[in-house]
Amino acid sequence: MWGGRFAGGPSAVMREINASIPFDKALWRQDITASQAHVAMLAAQGIVSAEDAETITGGLDRVAAEYEADGVPEDWDLEDIHMTVEARLTELVGPVAGRLHTARSRNDQVATDFRLWVREALDRADAGLAALQHALVARADEHAASIMPGFTHLQTAQPVTLGHHLMAYYEMIRRDRSRLADARARMNESPLGSAALAGTGFPIDREATAQALGFDGPTRNSLDAVSDRDFALDYLMAAAQCSLHLSRLAEEFVIWASQPFGFVRLPDALSTGSSIMPQKKNPDAAELVRGHAGRIVGAATALMVTMKGLPLAYSKDMQDDKPPVFEAAGLIDLSIAAMTGMVADATFQTGRMRQAAELGYATATDLADWLVTEADIPFREAHHITGAAVKLAEQRGLALDALPLEDLQAIDARIDARVFDALSVDASVAARASYGGTAPEQVRAQVQRAKADLESKT
Ligand code: ARG
Repeated sequence: MWGGRFAGGPSAVMREINASIPFDKALWRQDITASQAHVAMLAAQGIVSAEDAETITGGLDRVAAEYEADGVPEDWDLEDIHMTVEARLTELVGPVAGRLHTARSRNDQVATDFRLWVREALDRADAGLAALQHALVARADEHAASIMPGFTHLQTAQPVTLGHHLMAYYEMIRRDRSRLADARARMNESPLGSAALAGTGFPIDREATAQALGFDGPTRNSLDAVSDRDFALDYLMAAAQCSLHLSRLAEEFVIWASQPFGFVRLPDALSTGSSIMPQKKNPDAAELVRGHAGRIVGAATALMVTMKGLPLAYSKDMQDDKPPVFEAAGLIDLSIAAMTGMVADATFQTGRMRQAAELGYATATDLADWLVTEADIPFREAHHITGAAVKLAEQRGLALDALPLEDLQAIDARIDARVFDALSVDASVAARASYGGTAPEQVRAQVQRAKADLESKT
């Protein structure tokens, strides 16, 4: 391509270190789409003839058909997808192909192609997360009144409802989707026509190419446009934060599926067996989602470090932007799909969950609250009295509400028989009816709000 300036060819190492075709061939559709928008604009502006534009567009259609059928050939001498497409176009339509690169550079070309690719990845992640939200809402609705222990420090804290627990993840995913939407709105500007760095002297129409490619408009500064990778970073950081949420949910399933917990049976379709221990059913998909979060965070870190300290405008370091984005996109898409299947098809062992809530002194706070409300005892003192009751119940191996009234009264005479109404796990969750609380009526209200949100977005 630049033979005019060079006396010798590249060394084997140069060829290898320079070649991005092994990974950027993933951009072939975007490259062809952007080239077709570009050449249509060149024709409309009278920069190339209508006839040449037609030849080039038809040739690009043929290249697309070839790649669709047989994949993209990898010739390291052609470096990247942009030169690979152009070289094939030249073979197919002859020297007229050379007019395609008028008023553009690979710098604005790659920035445009990659934005188009990332925009699709954003939309894909958003659609996947919408499906996950639907699954969470459906299961939360079903389990609005199913009782389980709520934990802090992974120690039984207070009874909650499973629906409440699942809706907590709905909220995390809601924020993830809002981050993706922000990223999309910010990235949707077209770099095409920024050329190498300074813009071009040809009378191009950047509005036209922006519109043809579904962008809101052209980027405002050509130096920034060719050297900006914020759009990829925004995507990676949204994906990284999402992966943290998915990893936390995955971890819940790993814990819940373990035999001592026994809160959930995982779908067979998302579990594996052991080659030696016949009884095993392992939560591999959940563990891999947990593991993938590390790689997705790593991808975000990799690109941040690549971009750090690059002077304007384009530098070849930026070719390294693609592998982390491609890797993270594959991993986040899979992670979302795996967790959606897990939530949709898990069998929650509600009897076991309720039993765990009943055994863990989860209603101790309810006893303290009762002493405050019914016996007018200051909370700190009530806390102390309740501690003594828990200690006694523990010594006897009994649940709190199984302690005889006389024993409770021996601890504090102000306790009377009405206390037992407050000590059941059902009474405990029903009492927590503050906005956003765990009471079944509140969970159902959360579910209704979520359904309305999801409805309004489709
Ligand atoms: N393959 C390159 C990349 O991915 C395309 C841009 C090349 N530009 C250049 N001036 N060498 O970044």
